[in-house]
Amino acid sequence: MRSPLYLSQKSRRTHDQPISYFMQQAVENPNLISLAAGLVDAESLPAEEVAQAAEAVLRDPVRGKTALQYGTTQGLAPLRDLLVRRLAEADGIEPTALRLSADDCIITTGSQQVLYLVSEALLDPGDIVITGAPSYFVYHGTLKSMGVRTYAVPCDADGMDTHALAALLRRLNRRELARLRLIYVVDYFDNPTGSTLSLPRREHLMELVRRYSQEHRILVLEDSAYRELRYDGPDLPSLKSFDPDNEFVVLTQTFSKPLAPGFRIGYAVVPGELRDPLLRLKGNHDFGSSNFSQHLLLHLLTSGAYDRHVERLRDVYRRKRDVILAALKEHFPADCGVTWLRPNGGLYVWVSFPHEVDTGPQGRLLQAALEAGVLYVPGAFCYLDDLAERVPSHEARLCYGVASEAALREGVRRLASAYHQVTACPELTVSASR
Ligand SMILES: Cc1ncc(COP(=O)(O)O)c(C=O)c1O
Repeated sequence: MRSPLYLSQKSRRTHDQPISYFMQQAVENPNLISLAAGLVDAESLPAEEVAQAAEAVLRDPVRGKTALQYGTTQGLAPLRDLLVRRLAEADGIEPTALRLSADDCIITTGSQQVLYLVSEALLDPGDIVITGAPSYFVYHGTLKSMGVRTYAVPCDADGMDTHALAALLRRLNRRELARLRLIYVVDYFDNPTGSTLSLPRREHLMELVRRYSQEHRILVLEDSAYRELRYDGPDLPSLKSFDPDNEFVVLTQTFSKPLAPGFRIGYAVVPGELRDPLLRLKGNHDFGSSNFSQHLLLHLLTSGAYDRHVERLRDVYRRKRDVILAALKEHFPADCGVTWLRPNGGLYVWVSFPHEVDTGPQGRLLQAALEAGVLYVPGAFCYLDDLAERVPSHEARLCYGVASEAALREGVRRLASAYHQVTACPELTVSASR
């Protein structure tokens, strides 16, 4: 018999995502329409533009060889410079107004690496992190692996409820406040709710962070993964733009959604004192993200191909968003008690069923949905399970990124059929011919 293999405490705190099982089902069953997977639209992936960028980079005798060599841990300097300038431009300010330069930017392996590295740099077991309820469930897994305690603040159509955040901060005792390190917010077209943090709440959040950072600094981890996927409404200024001395906000953005996840490139803009600790940790992880991807990306950005692509992509997703919303309206009449938030961007629609309908893995709806051939993310997966309240289990996240328009219509029809089966909602028309 083999002798036992001892795993580290961190490894033992690191679990499979609950969603993995369902994703596996989708892979194994090609007839299943997955409205669960948070993948991007495959048709619009910019293969031609990337081929041209690769050709241009590799045919240049100096650049081609440089791109195939190791890069630096922090990432390609002209790319960092450009990203900081583009961020300031999106916020309508000069980088100097925020005391930002390329030095404050780190190129990472997707924004997931930022979430992990920032957590690793700031958090010890027993420290406290505040997230939205609901919020991005993959990050919950990271937090659990770090052994931290979490509080969750309710989110609505305007993002995190900052009055509830203020009430939570008032409730924390001195010892707890001393352990509070981080507030995590997905502030544009949130995953899973699709909602965007409103302007007054942005101001309020930053005011709270400053007010409660008397004895030590509480940082905001601003995850703006979906900022560029905006279909309606004005662009709001980043939380970073409310941080003129670059003290309180770590901003992360990714090229996975607006360009292609295959690049595995994201970046962080970080307060000065955090940069070197993050770089030392990143050095231990990978001493630099794909140099080749970074050179391609720089070419795509400077040639204008990236901006043209994002413009086209917005049209693709706007249409898909409209298709899924129209299908929901058609198949879930108003008196069925099913409601959803209308997203102005991103990839997700957050659907609320009546409280007695359990959308979770033990509930009848998910089983019926799988039998009908459609998959969604149970809402309960998007809540941290140590929230003081009972975790709601009557919601679902639908992703309209990957399915075709026809599959979105059919997927919602199947979901409605499953819902009809478990609730016998009388008004519902579920004929397959519609
Ligand atoms: C809110 C949010 N943050 C971060 C990520 C991580 O993405 P990536 O590592 O590809 O940048 C995702 C991916 O779905 C996400 O939805």
